Amino acid sequence: MGFLGPVCVLLLFLGVKVYCQYESYQWDEDYDQESDDVYQPEFQYHQNVDYRVPFHQHTLGCASECFCPPNFPSSMYCDNRKLQTIPKIPSHIQQVYLQFNEIEAVTADSFMNATHLKEINLSHNKIKSPKIDHGVFAKLSNLLQLHLQYNSLEEFPFPLPRSLERLLLGYNEISRLQTNALDGLVNLTMLDLCYNHLDAFTLQDKNLAKMENLMQLNLCNNRLESMPPGLPSSLMYLSLENNSISSIPENYFSELPKLHALRMSHNKLQDIPYNIFNLSNLIELNVGHNKLKQAFYIPRNLEHLYLENNEIENINVTVMCPSVDPLFYHHLTYIRVDQNKLKEPISSYIFLCFPHIHSIYYGEQRSTNGQTIQLKTQVLRRFHDDADSEDDDDDGHEGPEQEETEENMDPHYYGSQEW
Ligand SMILES: *[C@@H]1O[C@H](CO)[C@@H](O)[C@H](O)[C@H]1NC(C)=O
Ligand SMILES: *[C@@H]1O[C@H](CO)[C@@H](O)[C@H](O)[C@H]1NC(C)=O
Ligand SMILES: *[C@@H]1O[C@H](CO)[C@@H](O)[C@H](O)[C@H]1NC(C)=O
Ligand SMILES: *[C@@H]1O[C@H](CO)[C@@H](O)[C@H](O)[C@H]1NC(C)=O
Ligand SMILES: *[C@@H]1O[C@H](CO)[C@@H](O)[C@H](O)[C@H]1NC(C)=O
Ligand SMILES: *[C@@H]1O[C@H](CO)[C@@H](O)[C@H](O)[C@H]1NC(C)=O
Repeated sequence: MGFLGPVCVLLLFLGVKVYCQYESYQWDEDYDQESDDVYQPEFQYHQNVDYRVPFHQHTLGCASECFCPPNFPSSMYCDNRKLQTIPKIPSHIQQVYLQFNEIEAVTADSFMNATHLKEINLSHNKIKSPKIDHGVFAKLSNLLQLHLQYNSLEEFPFPLPRSLERLLLGYNEISRLQTNALDGLVNLTMLDLCYNHLDAFTLQDKNLAKMENLMQLNLCNNRLESMPPGLPSSLMYLSLENNSISSIPENYFSELPKLHALRMSHNKLQDIPYNIFNLSNLIELNVGHNKLKQAFYIPRNLEHLYLENNEIENINVTVMCPSVDPLFYHHLTYIRVDQNKLKEPISSYIFLCFPHIHSIYYGEQRSTNGQTIQLKTQVLRRFHDDADSEDDDDDGHEGPEQEETEENMDPHYYGSQEW
């Protein structure tokens, strides 16, 4: 035990570290945090503190149902109040928080004077599309962020102000989109439409490419049967998981050269062109829970590859890596291949082509008759003393090609990657 102790600690440390790497993959959370830092005033309300009668409250006003913190007089907090209507928003207010209420309608008179609004949070309400007064948002020419997630919208809100940068519409019932609804949104960087009822037909001819600054598009948990057409070339993060997409047209991604991360788990991908993901900026690729039978070409900058729950019987490394260029090593560090039909571990040639690989997660494999089988190794980790990668957790004892089996590691380590 005296000898094993430090090893276990090291493995634990490794587990935590790789887990953390995965955590950083939650790009929309990172993204949210960033924006919250920018927009969300860090206000902490202490009940026992005697807030003096604020000067601004007198002169500028605050809706009686809401609270305008004296030190952030341009913010109005009306969340969690069982409100059924939107209070009248005074003209100096820049942020209004109305989430977690019972609001059904967005009425023009509430916003009549609110021309300085930059952010509206109306998430977790009961808003239906026909109850949004026409043009109520479009008039707010300073609006940057609009939260409408967790409502009952059936239609994409239209029109919207051209100033808008972030639009959150997840968890609605949106199945309709006006032809020119997206045209003016030139400053939009983030559009979240996950958990709606959109299909690819609805997105056709909608000029998504006109959102020429769009960096993140979330379309997860919709009803897409094919890839969304005509996306803007500025896109860096594309989330399409849990749709019914079965193929990707050749050259689809040639219009998306900046793509950093692509999430397509829980679809029906089957036959895809072998070099379809040849994208020079791609870092994260998740095609787990599909029907893939074969591996594909791995672009040089890809770091994390998720292939679990597919139909792969044999991973042909030559396809992933047709040639090894010692001057331009691939960056792949992590592969997940559990719940496939592998009969043996991937050829060790993979370490020649992808010298940065830290671990390959084999987990359980399925045999052709549906039974689960274990390969000799569940997790294959590799330690190497690569001088230029100090974060490789090299303990200085392991040889360059040392392999390890870890059976008794934290089961949540990989389990938590389900999404
Ligand atoms: C808008 O501002 C005008 C003038 O300051 C005021 O008379 C009116 O009541 C305000 N309307 C609303 C809906 O706040
Ligand atoms: C808006 O409301 C959501 C709840 O749906 C909350 O998670 C989010 O932090 C709110 N945004 C801001 C900036 O307050
Ligand atoms: C878009 O953003 C740029 C840079 O922040 C700004 O100058 C421009 O006015 C914005 N456009 C609109 C329509 O608000
Ligand atoms: C995928 O969507 C279906 C509904 O369309 C839902 O029942 C299922 O739980 C979702 N699966 C995942 C993994 O999100
Ligand atoms: C990948 O794309 C590059 C150009 O971006 C090209 O030179 C290379 O041949 C492609 N590789 C494959 C396997 O398609
Ligand atoms: C792997 O793929 C290459 C190139 O497509 C092919 O020549 C080779 O026969 C394949 N090897 C196996 C074992 O399938």
